[in-house]
Amino acid sequence: MTLKQKYGSTALVAGASEGIGAAFADYLAAEGMDLVLIARHPVPLQQFADYLQNKYKVETICLSYDLADQNSTQQILESLNGKEINLIVYNAALSYIGPFIKNSVQNHSHMAQVNMMTPLYMLHAFGEKMVNKGKGAIILMASLAGFQGSGYLSVYAATKAFNRVLAESLWFEWKNSGVDVIACCAGATATPGYKNSNPEKTGFFTPRVLAPEEVAAECFKKLGNKPSFITGRGNRIASFIMQNIIPRKMAITIMGDTTRKMYRL
Ligand SMILES: NC(=O)c1ccc[n+]([C@@H]2O[C@H](COP(=O)([O-])OP(=O)(O)OC[C@H]3O[C@@H](n4cnc5c(N)ncnc54)[C@H](OP(=O)(O)O)[C@@H]3O)[C@@H](O)[C@H]2O)c1
Repeated sequence: MTLKQKYGSTALVAGASEGIGAAFADYLAAEGMDLVLIARHPVPLQQFADYLQNKYKVETICLSYDLADQNSTQQILESLNGKEINLIVYNAALSYIGPFIKNSVQNHSHMAQVNMMTPLYMLHAFGEKMVNKGKGAIILMASLAGFQGSGYLSVYAATKAFNRVLAESLWFEWKNSGVDVIACCAGATATPGYKNSNPEKTGFFTPRVLAPEEVAAECFKKLGNKPSFITGRGNRIASFIMQNIIPRKMAITIMGDTTRKMYRL
């Protein structure tokens, strides 16, 4: 059964113009789903939408909103004017790498809005409609950084823990209503955002950096079967060791030390 047959014909991708979000959108278009694509910058978003439309003959709607705006969910709902959404990928996130105190509280708050509050609002608005209809799917992007305290990624890591726990909770609440929810817990992925952060390789045993397309494809294999999953075998092994073999204090220390070295802090 295709995603379109299982969930319906229209998917919304928040944070769609590049990286993992673009890989999700491409996968969904290849499945024949029409798309609502959201990002802040309208030009690259429209160019990507045109590319998908030409390649897969699907319909696209581009909405240029800043998901850091508290009213963005309301604005999106108004723009959609009652259009049914059958699958949501909430991919956009802000991140800050550095000492907690050096970032302004306003910037931390923006991160909390984009990464936690807007997905919460969107899940409430669209999830209710999906539950009433008895079918739908929601993917929230989480991160290995959210599995333990992650020094120098503190607020970002905490927002990613929020996404994982929210998705897992709604997976349970909605599993008998025909709505599949999953947290996609990614490790390092070769997106423009990741490359621009200019990370240094920290050691021989660092898990392989995945391609965005691998992340999207793996997620659709797991959607409907699991409340959350970790992308890539190397990341799963590293995470198993961090969560189950070594003491939590050591896991937090390794995470903080690795980030400090990767970003020369
Ligand atoms: N890349 C990794 O190594 C990695 C690892 C673990 C988890 N993740 C998670 O995977 C997700 C995607 O990461 P990514 O590296 O592909 O890039 P990203 O920078 O989080 O997302 C890029 C996309 O989101 C849009 N976007 C960013 N901020 C937005 C905002 N405030 N409002 C609306 N749209 C916004 C961007 O377009 P505009 O700039 O035009 O708005 C772009 O289309 C994130 O949730 C991240 O936490 C990534």
